[in-house]
Amino acid sequence: TWLGIDLGTSGVKVVAVDGSAEVLATETVGYPLHLPEPGWVEQDPADWWSATVQAVRAVAARIDPDDVVAIGLCGQMHGMVALDAANQVLRRAVLWNDNRNGAECEWLLEQVGGLDGLLALTNNTALPGYTVGKILWLRNHEPDTFARTDVVLNPKDLLRLHLTGDRVTEVSDASGTGLLDVRARRWSTDLLAALDLPASLLPPVVESSDVTGRLTAAAAALVGLRAGTPVVGGGGDSVLQTTSMGIESPGLLGITLGTAGILGAAVDHCPDNVGGRVQVSCGNAPDRWHVMGVALTTGGALQWWRDALAPLLGERPATQALAELAARSPVGAKGLRFLPYLVGERCPHVDPGARGAWVGLDLRHDVADMTRAVVEGALLNVREVRDVLAGLGLAVDDVRISGGASVYPIWSQTLADVLGTPVSSVSGGEHGAAHGAALLAGVGTGQWPSLREALRRVHVTSTTEPDPDRVAVHDRGYAEFRRLYPALYGGDR
Ligand code: XUL
Repeated sequence: TWLGIDLGTSGVKVVAVDGSAEVLATETVGYPLHLPEPGWVEQDPADWWSATVQAVRAVAARIDPDDVVAIGLCGQMHGMVALDAANQVLRRAVLWNDNRNGAECEWLLEQVGGLDGLLALTNNTALPGYTVGKILWLRNHEPDTFARTDVVLNPKDLLRLHLTGDRVTEVSDASGTGLLDVRARRWSTDLLAALDLPASLLPPVVESSDVTGRLTAAAAALVGLRAGTPVVGGGGDSVLQTTSMGIESPGLLGITLGTAGILGAAVDHCPDNVGGRVQVSCGNAPDRWHVMGVALTTGGALQWWRDALAPLLGERPATQALAELAARSPVGAKGLRFLPYLVGERCPHVDPGARGAWVGLDLRHDVADMTRAVVEGALLNVREVRDVLAGLGLAVDDVRISGGASVYPIWSQTLADVLGTPVSSVSGGEHGAAHGAALLAGVGTGQWPSLREALRRVHVTSTTEPDPDRVAVHDRGYAEFRRLYPALYGGDR
């Protein structure tokens, strides 16, 4: 038995798998977000650990805990956990979707001669989502805390510290700090020097399936497992989620329709991040890189609309009810367009200040058209991200989908029609990155010779074909949609 622990934004999920990668047990335990200021998003790392203890204990009670061979970790990327020399957490963690460090990102670019200088060092741009801007914000705004900061960890690596006592990260999460030289798979000491940050602020970085340490006696007693159980590196959730869909060879595109829309492809070399429009990270196998375009609001657009309608209806309408409402509007929503940048955007436009809009409203439009426009706009945006990836020379015709929204035909069928390509669901997609983390634990302890071997079990369960008439409607809509962002925000980024 192998365990995968996925430290998400709304909760932690633990999955136990057997030697055939079949799921034996799962448990999810939630924790809150803290939103102290507009644009700030934080979590209390103590909540992560207590939820993890609870979830692992629950899973351990449903399997034979003595059978657990190894544990893999995965989690929300980019978060900043600041620890002092005694490994005490110094402040609440600043999360991936926190936008407070725009000024620090601009300053960072100035230190390295602009975007091209930064891309030469790391192959990634300075996104406010990344950890590095959060570290610079800490130095500027909470200098006393910064002075006491001995190491900065990403969220899942704090769990590792609790479990094994080791400060270690792995290449895929490290890529999302903005401080890794992704081409060379090691920290960019040149960037650290340019920013006057000590290299000792970052933990050693290993490959995703490497064993990083063993469960201490104290942690083992807490979580209900054997002391000495190995823990492997694991992965950043978005990277590992895509990998877990079997996207580990060039030619496949993974699209995860969650709150965000995450498009990811695997490549066997590190491609240049032209214009810094995508996220390039090390993949979960030593000979793989991962190119990712993250649209911040995809399924989240319909979640927002559902919440916006709730006061009118006295309750939040079910997603299925919204899907039926959207289906009453003709494809193309009678020309109504929706821009989904409800929390700013990361890809196709690097623009934390962008906001959403319906454009083209007229007297014929009703709530059904507005609902359909929300789904279509979110997916036209996904098409734009796909085209950014295609512009980097990545193959994008063989599409696999996963994520909460992908199970609704309004999303999967509209996606196939908007992209003009078939989209396939795969087995195991529902357990996502936690499952991938368990597989990495198996790879690291010899159950599977490689991640590619472990992922052989992933197979297509259903395929949704595009309809030529609807594709034609969306092609016209897309041409129009692409003009809206530059018209509203005056640029093509
Ligand atoms: C990926 C990203 C999110 C977080 C939280 O770049 O920002 O997917 O990892 O899940």
